[in-house]
Amino acid sequence: MQAKIISTGSYLPKKTISNAQLESLMDTSDDWIKTRTGIENRRISESENTSVLCGKAALDILKKANISASKIDLIIVATMSPDYLSPSTACLVQDYIGASKSMAFDLSAACSGFIYALSVAEKMLSSGNFHYALVLGGEVMSKMIDWNDRSTAVLFGDGAGGVLLESTDSIGSFISEDIHSDGSRGLALTAGALPVTNPYSENHLTDTYLEMEGRAIFDFATRSVPKSIEAVVDKASLTLSDIDRILPHQANSRIIQSMAKKLKIPFETFALNISDYGNTSAASIPILLDELVLSGDLVLGTGKKIILTGFGGGLTWGSMLIRI
Ligand code: UT7
Repeated sequence: MQAKIISTGSYLPKKTISNAQLESLMDTSDDWIKTRTGIENRRISESENTSVLCGKAALDILKKANISASKIDLIIVATMSPDYLSPSTACLVQDYIGASKSMAFDLSAACSGFIYALSVAEKMLSSGNFHYALVLGGEVMSKMIDWNDRSTAVLFGDGAGGVLLESTDSIGSFISEDIHSDGSRGLALTAGALPVTNPYSENHLTDTYLEMEGRAIFDFATRSVPKSIEAVVDKASLTLSDIDRILPHQANSRIIQSMAKKLKIPFETFALNISDYGNTSAASIPILLDELVLSGDLVLGTGKKIILTGFGGGLTWGSMLIRI
C-alpha cells in the first residue's frame, strides 16, 4: 500500500495585524520587520483556539474532497500550541468534525511538525490498516509569545492547514524523505515550559513564553536545510532541476534566499507567503500548499515533483520529496 495526497485545505483567523499596527505596541518598525524577515502582516486569533483553526481547516479539506468525516480513520495534528496538554488537539478536532471512528493524536515537532506528521501518516497508511488520514498543522502562536518582546512578537502568526491522505495500491505521493532531530541544541528555542512546581519542590513558576536564539536558529536553518533538500533529491536519484517547486517553512525570507544561494537554484523555485502570515510554525507548509493548489500553481494529480521542507524547535528539520 502507498499513501496519496487527495485534497488540501486551510483556515486563517480573520484579524490581520500589520507591522505598522505593532509599532504602537512595541519599539519596532515596519521597515525593520520587512527587511529583516519579509513579514508585512500576520493573522491573529481573537478567540478561536488551535483545535478550532484545525477543525475548520479539516472541514475545508473534506469539502474539497467530497468525503464525509465519518470515513476518516486517522487524524494527526502537528502543533506546539495545543488547547490543552490533555485532551489532545486531534481528539478535539475529531469531535469538532464528527470523525467518530478515527484514531487521533498530536505530534510535537515545532515548525517541522507537518513534515513529521506526514511521514508518520504515510507509514501508517502504508501498513494497510488505515484508509483515510487527515494530517493537520495548526497553531495559535499569539498565545505563546511575550507581546513585550519585540525580538519574537513580530515574527509569528496564527493559522492551520492540512491534507487528506488516501491509501492506494497504485502510485502514491511520497518519493523520498530526510528527517532529523538534535535534542542537544533544544534549548535554542523553548516554549510552554512546565517546571516541577509543587509544595515540596524548590522551583517557582517561571514564565512560559517562547524564547529563541534567533541568530543560532537562522544559522542552523541555512546550514542544515539545503543539505536535507539535496538528500531527498539524491535518495530519489533525481537532480534539483527535476523539482518544480520547493515549499519551505516560512520563518524568514532571508533564510530562504540563503538556501537558494547555497543550492545554486533560482529564488523563484521557492514558494513564499510569509509576507501575509508571518511564521505560523507547523501550519506554514500546509497553508502554503493549499494556496498554491487554490491558485492553480500546483494541480493535484499532475505528478509534478515538489519538496516540502521544515526546520525549527527541537531542534528538528526535514524534507519530503513528493509527487503532487
Ligand atoms: O520557525 C523556526 C524558528 N525560528 C526561526 O527560524 C527564526 C530564525 N531567526 C531569524 O529569523 C532572525 O535571526 C531574526 C528575525 C529573529 C532576527 O534577525 P537578525 O538579523 O538575526 O537580528 P538580530 O537578532 O541580530 O538583531 C539585530 C538588531 C538588534 O539591535 P542591536 O543590538 O543591533 O542594537 C535587536 O535588538 O535588531 C534589534 N531588533 C529589533 N529592532 C526592531 C530585534 N527585534 C527587533 C524588532 N524591531 N522587532
